[in-house]
Amino acid sequence: MRAEHLTYEAKTNLGGFYTPKHIVNKLYETLAKFVLPDEIDALLEPNCGYGALLDHEYARKIKKVVGADIDIKAQEIAKNAFSHAKFYHINALKNVARSAYEIGDSDRLLIVANPPYNDLTSQVKNGVKKNICQIDEDIQRRDLGLSSLLGFNKLRPDFIAVLHPLSYLIKKTNFNALKPFMKNYALRSATVFNSQAFLDASKLNGFPVLIAIYQKSESGTSYEDIYHWRFDTIENDSFSLSQFDYIGKYIDKYPNKRGDRSGYLFYTMRDINALKRSRTFIDEEIANAVHISDEKLDYYCYVDIFKDYADNLPYYMGNLDIPIDDKRFGPLRESFRALSVAKHRKIFANKIKAPTPDILRLSKANVQTYFNELFNRKSNEN
Ligand SMILES: C[S@@+](CC[C@H](N)C(=O)[O-])C[C@H]1O[C@@H](n2cnc3c(N)ncnc32)[C@H](O)[C@@H]1O
Repeated sequence: MRAEHLTYEAKTNLGGFYTPKHIVNKLYETLAKFVLPDEIDALLEPNCGYGALLDHEYARKIKKVVGADIDIKAQEIAKNAFSHAKFYHINALKNVARSAYEIGDSDRLLIVANPPYNDLTSQVKNGVKKNICQIDEDIQRRDLGLSSLLGFNKLRPDFIAVLHPLSYLIKKTNFNALKPFMKNYALRSATVFNSQAFLDASKLNGFPVLIAIYQKSESGTSYEDIYHWRFDTIENDSFSLSQFDYIGKYIDKYPNKRGDRSGYLFYTMRDINALKRSRTFIDEEIANAVHISDEKLDYYCYVDIFKDYADNLPYYMGNLDIPIDDKRFGPLRESFRALSVAKHRKIFANKIKAPTPDILRLSKANVQTYFNELFNRKSNEN
């Protein structure tokens, strides 16, 4: 069920995009490989909405089931629908403690959750997002989802089955922001699906979300574990960060005030999804401008041409840095450059001659072969 009682603005602020049944089923199916309901004393869903994540046979087998939400209306609707559970109207990010949910210190606890993922600094929907709640100081982060995971850590559950953006693991700044959590919890399973599956979210840009299972563990999860992890997708694909080399190794992606000045400028690069929306070569000195040195120009042409190809890539690659095979790229530098020069006539006009139609045709073919090889490598390996 969608969050029918919420306006669009409230939905965005609360992250009120509810979970569809097939994701709930997949979550419990996966969880059951690691722990069974009779090994659990209490199940807590601290961001329950209408209770989508409580609506499963697995949950009904657990003795003590607790739901909570900061949204009193949602929590009341859940209370009417689930007679076997106890509900609380609670801000899960303030005064985090088991006692708030009347869960005993020695209870073997499972947390099941789809917390709000609200980047409080995000520009995408600026103007709509507001600070919706107070947050304990030790778990304050720039994204409510990061704070939520840190809150779960403070409750010391034995298992956590949670839906969260893939970017929480693969972006180093996010991973580092989650250190206290990652120190105590080992990732056991991670299945990727498209955020457009969430009810009401289909109009938004899709980004990869994980069905993640974590278990309390002294060894925790390191970034190295994530780098080598083989992520499965709900479409039965799989990928690993370690299967590619990335552009960040070769060029500056962010404003470099003291960089060499060839005169060419490029817009800041984040990940593939950001590149799809942003400009590449620019002709004005703005705060987000990256200065390009002469010897690196071809790498920026590579990114510029990669952008044209990016729409063909699956959603689950959206948060990756731009992949490159430097060995194969080397002999093709001129092809990439020719395509960029043709694409940005104004920017290159005074310095680089426009390629002839023949060269353009050849360059296009070369680049197409290059990308096919770069992205088919995985299917050849399987
Ligand atoms: C993505 S929805 C998920 C709802 C439900 N778990 C589901 O999967 O359908 C996130 C929920 O978190 C709730 N929420 C947001 N901030 C919260 C907070 N600080 N404490 C508790 N719940 C919060 C929202 O009201 C919303 O119901």
